[in-house]
Amino acid sequence: MAKFLLIVGGGIAAYKAAELIRGARKAGHDVTPVLTAGGAHFVTPMSLAALAESPVYTSLWDLKDEAEMGHIQLSRAADLVLVCPATADLIAKMAAGIADDLATTLLLATDKPVIIAPAMNVRMWQHQATQTNIATLRARGITVIDPDEGPMACGEYGPGRLPEPDDILTFITQLPLVPSAVEGRLPVGDGPLSGRHILVTAGPTHEPIDPVRVIANRSSGKQGFAIAAAAAQAGARVTLIVGPVALPSPGGVARIDVETAQQMAEAVANSLPADVAILVAAVADWRVEASPTKLKKSAGPPALQFVANPDILATLGQSPDRPRLLIGFAAETDHVVANATAKRTAKNADWIVANDVSGDVMGGARNQVHLITAAGVEDWPEASKDDVARQLIARIIEELK
Ligand code: C5P
Repeated sequence: MAKFLLIVGGGIAAYKAAELIRGARKAGHDVTPVLTAGGAHFVTPMSLAALAESPVYTSLWDLKDEAEMGHIQLSRAADLVLVCPATADLIAKMAAGIADDLATTLLLATDKPVIIAPAMNVRMWQHQATQTNIATLRARGITVIDPDEGPMACGEYGPGRLPEPDDILTFITQLPLVPSAVEGRLPVGDGPLSGRHILVTAGPTHEPIDPVRVIANRSSGKQGFAIAAAAAQAGARVTLIVGPVALPSPGGVARIDVETAQQMAEAVANSLPADVAILVAAVADWRVEASPTKLKKSAGPPALQFVANPDILATLGQSPDRPRLLIGFAAETDHVVANATAKRTAKNADWIVANDVSGDVMGGARNQVHLITAAGVEDWPEASKDDVARQLIARIIEELK
């Protein structure tokens, strides 16, 4: 059973927060509500307190609360922080790091997982400002529960409705963060990697050319997801940082969705320290200065100016926070082992997992790899990506002993 700090924002959906409290209490969770000034226009502190069987916090300046429970302590006493409903205003303040009331101060001060359930008018939800803020929050590791689509209180139709409270609860309880074993930001499991933090990057990155076009690659994310799943099954706390892919999250991992190489680099830096980093992502080597407006076909083919993206693996290789075991991948079409061996030294990685991608490895279910370590080269037999993942995790367990 988990302890929720529930921040109730000011929107018509705030009444559903009351239902959510009831459902959470019934399921045995503790709920401490925090009501914003806007939220208090829709529900009263009294009704939330009665349902939560807990005091409701409303003001940063309430000295009595501050004497009994300081705002820093309040932000950390729970296992997770849920913002429901998260208004466009609250989301914008979170993205900007503004702390001008109790709710936003708690959100800035917390060291616990934060989950937000946005609810607002469809235009407000689809507005570029809100979508950019949401992308920023996701890149920082905040979990966003996508709003439902349907008729809205304001009479319009579209995405922006708060999902039903039971669905929100089910979503949260399926996250790997909820068990009371929550330690810091991530879950803890049993197994040979218990107590270890493993960071995995996966998938491609997308580098925008303009608002509709991107530079991408064929990485499906399957191998990285299989590795994250195998690490979680071995009991590790896993952070999976992933570019645009169409894969469901493996159970037991904290997933951070990003789009570009720069966002991936930032998410990796924010997720340190880690005992092991396995960088499987096919990061775009170059990006272009994206045009803020759609490039017109009539203007002829654009002359794209490429600039180099940060090399996440090489940066980690030189970082004071370098994980004890740093593992890169090398997708090559020729001189696979020679190129990968050179990469191991150039990027200061411990191991490189090299594969020949001239066939249908990218997007496929099978892989044939070579493991390059300081001791030499091992040729592993062709296997499913799941088996390659399990074998790699078994090697990591050996190495960390
Ligand atoms: O140099 P190359 O792209 O072949 O290196 C592949 C390895 O480096 C992979 O582990 C990949 O995840 C990582 N990489 C990275 N950042 C980049 C490019 C590659 O982390 N910008």
